Amino acid sequence: MTGTALITGAARGIGEATARCLAGQGWQVALMDRDPEVIEVAAGLGSQARGYTGDVSDPGDWERIVGAVTADLGPVTGLVSNALITDPTPIDRMTPESWQRQLDVNLTGTFHGVRTCLPGLRAARPGRVVIVSSVHAFFGLPDVPAYAATKAGLTGLTRQLAVQYGSGVRVNCVAPGPIRTAQWDRLTEDEIARSAAETTLGRLGSPDEVAAAIAFLIGDDASFITGATLTVDGGWSVTKNSS
Ligand SMILES: NC(=O)c1ccc[n+]([C@@H]2O[C@H](COP(=O)([O-])OP(=O)(O)OC[C@H]3O[C@@H](n4cnc5c(N)ncnc54)[C@H](O)[C@@H]3O)[C@@H](O)[C@H]2O)c1
Repeated sequence: MTGTALITGAARGIGEATARCLAGQGWQVALMDRDPEVIEVAAGLGSQARGYTGDVSDPGDWERIVGAVTADLGPVTGLVSNALITDPTPIDRMTPESWQRQLDVNLTGTFHGVRTCLPGLRAARPGRVVIVSSVHAFFGLPDVPAYAATKAGLTGLTRQLAVQYGSGVRVNCVAPGPIRTAQWDRLTEDEIARSAAETTLGRLGSPDEVAAAIAFLIGDDASFITGATLTVDGGWSVTKNSS
């Protein structure tokens, strides 16, 4: 079964790849991003795609956009909560405003999204939600305290939503490892090569490889999977070097 999937943070990276992948599988796709570029990206995906500019941390934007999506493409029956911000700063130098903004976008944005889309999701029986977390939910890495806290929160929220809505809405999570998107542009090629060497597969993943996992979880092949977190990290989290 396909329907209308709303993907947040869809102007680039994993969100854009997911929109492209789901459109290819017959979903109507609504691409939401705070970057107006999302309109053009959606236009490139054909008539079954629309772009909407809005901020996931703003409940008013959610009301406006879900109303427009319902009118344009039909009720939202699938939600991919993917948008993020991060401020790589140790906690002793992070401002309360930065901490709060990261929680507002990464974690509360998912709350607003699920809450606003729930009527369409529940009517679909089952609606489908995929939340994009990170390996940072499970592993401590320097300088990303708020990001890691929000990503760990999202894995807990996944389980909670799965239990709450039972057979009405399947809710799953993906936890990507190093994936070559714009997030990596601030790093040097040497730093990127070091990260690649820390995976079992010896390379960074592509946005398409995460999109495939999201499409699996949102699709009918995952009909008996809910409350799960699927790690998509090229073996990053199982590789340790003790020498
Ligand atoms: N790239 C990686 O290595 C990696 C690793 C682990 C997890 N992830 C997760 O994958 C997801 C996608 O990451 P990416 O690398 O594709 O990121 P990206 O930076 O390429 O894209 C993120 C998108 O989110 C949008 N966005 C930011 N704030 C927003 C807001 N308030 N409202 C609406 N849109 C907003 C941005 O405009 C951007 O288009 C994120 O949840 C991220 O935490 C990525």
